[in-house]
Amino acid sequence: MSFDTDAVHAAREDLTALGVHVPPIDLSTTYPVGDVEAGGTSYENLATGGTPEAGDSLVYQRLWNPTVARLEDALARLEGTRQAVAFGSGMAALSATLLAAVSAGTPHVVAVRPLYGGSDHVLATGLLGTRVTWADPDGIAAAIEPDTGLVVVETPANPTLDLVDLAAVARQAGSVPVLVDNTFATPVLQRPVEHGATLVLHSATKFLGGHGDIMAGLVATNAEWAARIRGVRALTGGLLHPMAAYQVHRGLQTLPTRVRAQQDNAQVVAHWLDKQDGVVRVLHPSLPGCDPLGLVGTQMAGCGAVLAFEVGSYAEAATVAQTCRLITHAVSLGGVDSLIQHPASLTHRPVTPEARPAAGVLRLSVGLEDVGDVIGDLRRALTVARERHSPTVVPDRAESADREHVYQI
Ligand SMILES: Cc1ncc(COP(=O)(O)O)c(C=O)c1O
Repeated sequence: MSFDTDAVHAAREDLTALGVHVPPIDLSTTYPVGDVEAGGTSYENLATGGTPEAGDSLVYQRLWNPTVARLEDALARLEGTRQAVAFGSGMAALSATLLAAVSAGTPHVVAVRPLYGGSDHVLATGLLGTRVTWADPDGIAAAIEPDTGLVVVETPANPTLDLVDLAAVARQAGSVPVLVDNTFATPVLQRPVEHGATLVLHSATKFLGGHGDIMAGLVATNAEWAARIRGVRALTGGLLHPMAAYQVHRGLQTLPTRVRAQQDNAQVVAHWLDKQDGVVRVLHPSLPGCDPLGLVGTQMAGCGAVLAFEVGSYAEAATVAQTCRLITHAVSLGGVDSLIQHPASLTHRPVTPEARPAAGVLRLSVGLEDVGDVIGDLRRALTVARERHSPTVVPDRAESADREHVYQI
């Protein structure tokens, strides 16, 4: 079946036999165990990351839930992996994966910046027992140590839209598994395992859910890693609620259509922004110079629906974000409505100053609105910012770097 057909039908094949049209939602927190011995065996199996056999008790929702498992099967199909494991957020999914690496005795992580601010922060602090070496894509091989358990990359990266060549990363990583945060691209535009990755991370809060009303995370991977990550989930919690799993699974049905329509809008907005006075630069893979490795068309099937643009100063960026009306000034991305936010003060606030985005950078997630209305809103906000802050000053990284680094654990 084609990708679009799988998006609509994956993990729904048994519904007709069940006599229903949409997946049932199983809200049980506990399940009858029946026979004591068999119950104990089921517990042992599920608590260590195993999958249930037909007729096994599911024991307890933290170990297994059929509605969550349906979503996991569907995403695994779309990412081209054997399995997937779902969590209550993208950060919970990343944390469980890092803990799985630590518990395997391989706590060293080689990571390529930029990453989402929370991912950067959890690695930089070593909160979960990992030790990080930051590397350029070309420096990954040199950064690998005997106890390296993961190479972590994000492409397109948040918020600069940098594209990383995944096949080159996998070559450099050698036998070390590569984890790719695929939140921005989604499997509609990029399937990292086809380029050598072993683990694919999603903040399903974004495009997969698609409507700004579900917090969720998933890791799609092979059976061995999935079992290890499920074992961590069984022990530490962080699981996804079945209602949210149902909603993300429903979101997958419209994912290809939403992503393609939103990226068409984003491309129009990016090219319009690129011609505006007061906009210093626009970052979107559709623009000249933004895809130096030629990855769109090979690694990625499109440019995505998120872009970034830089205005002259922190103050100007703040005015643009606060003046937009149709576009909501809010973190997150990937929903059907457009969102704008200022990474240096919000999503990337926890990142150390030298790796933090420039003070004038704004991130825009373009939604499904009429693109003319989105541009109209931006035009008005840019005009207000220009009038209020002219003459434009040269963008200054120090302006955000000098602010106190207030985000502590
Ligand atoms: C690229 C990326 N990865 C991971 C996360 C974390 O996901 P969540 O907010 O669902 O925990 C985010 C959140 O913004 C993100 O943008």
